[in-house]
Amino acid sequence: MIERLRKGEGPRLRAIRLRALADAPDAFGSTFEVAERKGPEDWETQVERLPTFVWREGDTDLGMVRGAPHDGDADAGYLISMWVAPEARGRGVGAALVGEVIAWARGRGLRRLVLDVGAHNEPARRLYERLGFAATGATGALPPPRDRLRELEMTIDLVIDLAGHDPAAPHHTL
Ligand SMILES: CC(C)(COP(=O)(O)OP(=O)(O)OC[C@H]1O[C@@H](n2cnc3c(N)ncnc32)[C@H](O)[C@@H]1OP(=O)(O)O)[C@@H](O)C(=O)NCCC(=O)NCCS
Repeated sequence: MIERLRKGEGPRLRAIRLRALADAPDAFGSTFEVAERKGPEDWETQVERLPTFVWREGDTDLGMVRGAPHDGDADAGYLISMWVAPEARGRGVGAALVGEVIAWARGRGLRRLVLDVGAHNEPARRLYERLGFAATGATGALPPPRDRLRELEMTIDLVIDLAGHDPAAPHHTL
């Protein structure tokens, strides 16, 4: 089930984020080495500032995602830090986590969500496309020394139009 991390759960964020960075280093701009050195207050601040959703089975966190404000567009939010543990992949956990960030963004009245995905990252690109995200055409790169890895920007429109067409609904329900 999905839980939103609360104040005081910085250690829980640290544990799953370090596992994500170790497992999929090229999927993220941050690195394990830098994250590992951050102190407890830093993790706590992240939990308090960014909505953080985790997928929990029994007493283990097996997936996470976060939302963030967009730095240049007050109508938009970012979806960041998406990761599902290898043993939990291929079961729709990623889709469920994206759904939480969409709900968070809608709750804040945001009109679109934006994310960056590695051009090489086929499973993630397919997941986002299946959920209704589309490439904007903007591209970037991971920070050096990994700048040979290209990133594609994708976005989803969160505004439901008057005809009832919901652009964020999975395609099979349209
Ligand atoms: C991308 C990611 C979050 C998808 O999570 P997920 O819960 O497996 O998502 P889904 O169950 O919807 O499956 C997504 C795709 O992975 C494929 N997949 C299925 N089983 C899989 C498995 N055991 N291992 C890897 N991929 C698998 C599926 O084919 C599916 O593709 P489809 O859309 O063609 O069906 C996950 O693979 C992951 O954490 N990857 C490493 C980190 C990462 O890339 N994060 C994204 C940063 S932008």
